[in-house]
Amino acid sequence: MPQKRIKAVIPAAGLGTRFLPATKAMPKEMLPVVDKPAIQYVVEEAVSANIDDILIILGRNKNNISNHFDSVPELEHNLTNKGDLDRLRRVQASSELADIHFVRQGEPKGLGHAVLRAKGHVGDATFAVMLGDDLIDERDELLTTMIDENERTGLTVVALMEVDPDNIHMYGAAAVEPTDNPDVVKVTGLVEKPKKEDAPSNYAVIGRYVLTPDVFEVLERTEPGRGGEIQLTDALQELATTSGVLGVVFRGRRYDTGDRLDYIKAIVQLAVDREDLGTDLRPWLKDFAAEI
Ligand code: UTP
Repeated sequence: MPQKRIKAVIPAAGLGTRFLPATKAMPKEMLPVVDKPAIQYVVEEAVSANIDDILIILGRNKNNISNHFDSVPELEHNLTNKGDLDRLRRVQASSELADIHFVRQGEPKGLGHAVLRAKGHVGDATFAVMLGDDLIDERDELLTTMIDENERTGLTVVALMEVDPDNIHMYGAAAVEPTDNPDVVKVTGLVEKPKKEDAPSNYAVIGRYVLTPDVFEVLERTEPGRGGEIQLTDALQELATTSGVLGVVFRGRRYDTGDRLDYIKAIVQLAVDREDLGTDLRPWLKDFAAEI
């Protein structure tokens, strides 16, 4: 467990265009993964890493998310009257997880811009950024390792995953140098969504960051970059060449629920391992797979 208590910031103000029309009136972070919205898994991951203060950056359709983390007296009353205590417990769980705060990002001007909206809440302290549609399997360890690495070095830490070079254009790609630890690399440069031939490596930046507060000053003067958006990657590129950035290499299970195919895979992978669903789902899935 990390020594220092840090805050987490969950940006959830993107447009979710890859998932339209489902995301027309609902943020992609609220899409259900089995029976919980994606963002609840992310909040639970933060809580498991000993974080109890969470700031969610909201965009349009903001009420969907804030309502989910609020209590719903009439629903709770109804379940209590029916004696459905199991569901009551699950409904209450999301509103009792942590101290959750919200701030608006008026316009979706990019992930870097969304992170900058956290400045007032975070202040002059190291903090975690966790993307609300990027799930790390709770059985695999990532965030606490990143926090430990930050505590050990005082540096910004990003999460990296090796991806197929044909897919690197969908991510921020990192130029890296090895360290004494095979799971930690020094990040010497970052490029947002490069073409395969321009990518410095197949190490992709995934949605977990432990950022030092100097990132705010860099973001304040970061010009819009790729796609006309203020890119967190561009600010991290500057930090990589000045104060220094480390990468923790993640080799576990990750689900990008903002991508339709990954979303479907995430539901199947998580449901087959669930006690209440797996027993029935596994044989059905085998029969189904044999037929296609
Ligand atoms: P993505 O690029 O995955 O989100 O941003 P998007 O723009 O909603 O996705 P598509 O491509 O249109 O489907 C990564 C994360 O940053 C947040 C998103 O909500 C997501 O968690 N984000 C992005 C913001 O909070 N604000 C922004 O302006 C952009």
